[in-house]
Amino acid sequence: MENNLFFDSKRYCVEELHAGTENIRYRAFRNITYVKRPVDEIQKLNIFVPEKYFAGEEINGYGLRTAPIFLPNTVGGYKPGPAGEPCVNKEGQPNAMYLALQHGYVVVSAGVRGRGSVDAEGRYIGAAPAVVCDMKAAVRFLRYFDKTIPGDKEKIITNGTSAGGALSALMGATGNHPDYEPYLKEMGAADTADHVFGASCYCPITNLEHADMAYEWEFGGIREYCKWNEQGKMSDKQISLSEILAGAFPLYVNSLHLKDEEGQELSLSENGEGTFQKKVEEFVIASACREVKKGTDLSQLSWITWQDGKICGIDFKEYVRFRTRMKTTPAFDNITMGTAENELFGDLDIRERHFTSFGYEHSEVMGELAEEQRIKMMNPMNYLKDDLAVKAKHYRIRHGAVDRDTSLAIPVILHTKLMNAGIDSDLEFPWGIPHAGDYDLNELFRWIDAIVTDNV
Ligand code: DHB
Repeated sequence: MENNLFFDSKRYCVEELHAGTENIRYRAFRNITYVKRPVDEIQKLNIFVPEKYFAGEEINGYGLRTAPIFLPNTVGGYKPGPAGEPCVNKEGQPNAMYLALQHGYVVVSAGVRGRGSVDAEGRYIGAAPAVVCDMKAAVRFLRYFDKTIPGDKEKIITNGTSAGGALSALMGATGNHPDYEPYLKEMGAADTADHVFGASCYCPITNLEHADMAYEWEFGGIREYCKWNEQGKMSDKQISLSEILAGAFPLYVNSLHLKDEEGQELSLSENGEGTFQKKVEEFVIASACREVKKGTDLSQLSWITWQDGKICGIDFKEYVRFRTRMKTTPAFDNITMGTAENELFGDLDIRERHFTSFGYEHSEVMGELAEEQRIKMMNPMNYLKDDLAVKAKHYRIRHGAVDRDTSLAIPVILHTKLMNAGIDSDLEFPWGIPHAGDYDLNELFRWIDAIVTDNV
């Protein structure tokens, strides 16, 4: 099936939503196919615009043409993320899209493929890098119809949580990179640009090739795990794999030559300790200090050390035990397959594959290894020093201080690598927050308002 790219500015509904005493009125343009040759029903986007803009009014200084475009995705677990809607839940709580509209952003939500997407023949059409290519095609569509679609296409801010946070990070790192071009051509994406201005990433499950070693660097030595309602103890074999993986992490970190704000190298010695660990601790300490400032009493937490009534350090190992281990070893590229990531790296006819040489070499199911290029295309880290990629100017990364879905090292590495590449990045570990997103939308919107006026 081949269609021309088409946007009908006259096909819309004007709708109203209420949350408590507040309400929003907006124009909704829905179910717009953003590629010429869709392979999945999900490749459609919705556009929502504050109705006031069509009467020439402004909200927070933004208007029909100047409003930033908030581009949240609904991806979770690397599964397909359908186009979303502004809404208010049963408890009367509005979602991020509602609040973004109320704040004056144009909101675009694009449906994207993911693991488990299948075509009529049952082939897996959502394997990597489909998720990124779809989102890129959606951004290209917005630029292609720049004159008729409201909002400022040079002020697109992506947003997502977890796998969706990883997608947001990828969108920020890989703008217009030729690696993705063949996929975009094949699906008939608009021949325009797909770079974005800002990337908001909540707990991005990213840097997947190194996530296993990072996980063991952090949670190594903890045998007990608890994952949702499943609890248990890791086997001796898992423990020995954990030791190998943890041992490989310093080599990886040191190969990045990460530098702190003063230009000092962040590294790890063979035993896994060093300035990089201190940097991770600094983010935890900053989180605890912000919480104390709010008036919370943290004196019962034995992993925090105090001096003269002030937090002066943490016992990292004890803090990690306090958080507890969620995943068994290897956490992402499992030697028996079965993880979200194994499925992400599947192929048209193969449901799951490995994506690390470690997983492949230790495979207990004779699993195949995904192509190097596809693995590369799912990791924003690979593009930050590549001049062919047009990078987002600003990143905001939030990773809950009690999140255990990936190692805290992952966001710290991404943030530091961004800064070292000259890209503005703002990283915090919000206190008491588990694996979650969109919990601080006022602050997120304040950040967006600041970056779009270059006021950071
Ligand atoms: C998500 C969580 C995970 O632990 C993971 O490995 C991949 C994705 C998620 O919530 O999107």
